[in-house]
Amino acid sequence: MVQLTGPKKIKSAVFISGTGSNLKSLIKFSKKKNSPISIELIISDNSKAKGLKFGKIFKISNKVFNYKERKIAEKKIVSEIKSKKIKLICLAGFMKILSKDFIKSFKGKILNIHPSLLPKYKGLNTHQRALSNNDKYSGCTVHFVNSRLDSGKIIIQKKVKINKRDTVKTLAKKILIQEHKLYPKAISKVFSL
Ligand code: GRF
Repeated sequence: MVQLTGPKKIKSAVFISGTGSNLKSLIKFSKKKNSPISIELIISDNSKAKGLKFGKIFKISNKVFNYKERKIAEKKIVSEIKSKKIKLICLAGFMKILSKDFIKSFKGKILNIHPSLLPKYKGLNTHQRALSNNDKYSGCTVHFVNSRLDSGKIIIQKKVKINKRDTVKTLAKKILIQEHKLYPKAISKVFSL
């Protein structure tokens, strides 16, 4: 656990590509008095990401970077992050893979939420894979990001029961509800005021 002194919150950025429901839950969490983080920046690779609206609603600056050339995009992201003195990056449905160099330069400062009980089902289509294997449980995981996909140290997990009638849609919905609670919990676990 990282102990913080004083009332200062850790300046954080959230990276998204889509709906941004986890972003919304993180923003709400950050506004709580005892939250260890403040969210100063939202970054996306997708100008059409629905979640960008939360930047407007909560008055947090949004930046969209064109990922056609990852190297250039990441260079711009690094300079944005440094200028805003961001100390924590929360990936929340960010669909681009960060380069090894990027991850190295923010070692131990990047978190991700993944919709499975890692190490099971790294990568995409986690719900479909859990259903096809007739798993009894699935869930979600918050972990540190290292240079191997969905393989960094696990911080916290939540199990969700799979019912016989579950479809990809119903399972995704159930797990997402838990994700919204789990990400703030993970942050509280790692950083305490
Ligand atoms: C979540 O299921 C998250 O675990 C995965 O992508 C989804 C993002 O959903 N990495 P949202 O954009 O936060 O609503």
